[in-house]
Amino acid sequence: MVLIKDKPLPLPIIQGGMGIGVSMGNLAGHVAKHGAMGVISAANPGFLNKDFWINSVQSNLAALKEQINKAKNIAQGSGIVAINAMVATTHYEETIRTAVAAGVDAVISGAGLPSDLPRFVEGSKTAIAPIVSSGKAARTICRLWDKRHKVCPDFIVIEGSLAGGHLGFSAEELENGTAQTLEQILPEVLAEIAPYEEKHQKKIPVFVAGGVYTAEDIRHFLQLGATGVQLGTRFIATEECDASPRYKEILVAAKKEDICLIKSPVGMPGRALNSPLIQRLKQDLRIPVKKCMDCLHPCTPATTPYCITGALSAAVQGNWEDGLFFCGSNAWRMEKILPVQELLEELKQGWRSDK
Ligand SMILES: Cc1cc2nc3c(=O)[nH]c(=O)nc-3n(C[C@H](O)[C@H](O)[C@H](O)COP(=O)(O)O)c2cc1C
Repeated sequence: MVLIKDKPLPLPIIQGGMGIGVSMGNLAGHVAKHGAMGVISAANPGFLNKDFWINSVQSNLAALKEQINKAKNIAQGSGIVAINAMVATTHYEETIRTAVAAGVDAVISGAGLPSDLPRFVEGSKTAIAPIVSSGKAARTICRLWDKRHKVCPDFIVIEGSLAGGHLGFSAEELENGTAQTLEQILPEVLAEIAPYEEKHQKKIPVFVAGGVYTAEDIRHFLQLGATGVQLGTRFIATEECDASPRYKEILVAAKKEDICLIKSPVGMPGRALNSPLIQRLKQDLRIPVKKCMDCLHPCTPATTPYCITGALSAAVQGNWEDGLFFCGSNAWRMEKILPVQELLEELKQGWRSDK
């Protein structure tokens, strides 16, 4: 049985955090209830609240607390309830402290180097994990946390180039296919963390993400030394996913040629559906920001090509014209919307049967 800071994780599967509003308390709670790790996205969780555009910080913190409580109520002590918080967000520290106070089991953090994350969870039972895309990044974070905070990660997520959402690779690497594969990154990460596991006398479970689709994929990565996997896109096509039915239908109907690479105002490349918004942006049309709530450090409202909060929240509500529909490279393979339990059953049966 995998242990995450002493808490059992019966299924070594993480449902990746998906913002805005795609993975909230309902999805995360049901994933945890069935023994895996359910992750609430901490990216603007208050987006549906009336006061969101007026008092976004309070609205987000209150919504985050609510969603953690909701997930924990659904999970009833099974699995693990976590949040995903991006380092690039402006109220990162308050977000983590709010989640810890609400009793969240784990915090997973990417889109930047979570240098001070150990300090924000100090004295709590909350586990912490960085998201990395290379052995070098794993080394940097382990060295930093060891030196500065005398701890090492409780687990690590490696996100490869086939994932949905923001990607930790350059646009060139992604476009010309030279980004390292998960099969290449995983052994590098395992080698980099070994000295820290030795020093801190603890195992650091490693989960791989990005394009993981079937039970066979899971078995493949377990054989290569991963403890488990993180899947995002497949959890969108579940009944319990918090996105609107229209969002799920759009994803399920997607074809391979609809999936493309985009440039995000966060300053990183991303993978999404080639929606009308993306087509407008490709013609060099800038979509002026109507109202800025200062959500991301690297975004400049005067020059950003579009507001990512506006575009992601339009998408999750099913607005095809104006939405940004993040998805993984395997989204085209999805055929129907399943209950979470059925999806997890499919994933775990195949890998148990050892075909
Ligand atoms: C709609 C969507 C939104 C996402 N949002 C986030 C996010 O806010 N933060 C993050 O670290 N990763 C985010 N991701 C990445 C997922 O957590 C996960 O690592 C990734 O989707 C795995 O690849 P897969 O979709 O091929 O399974 C997002 C992915 C999708 C599809």
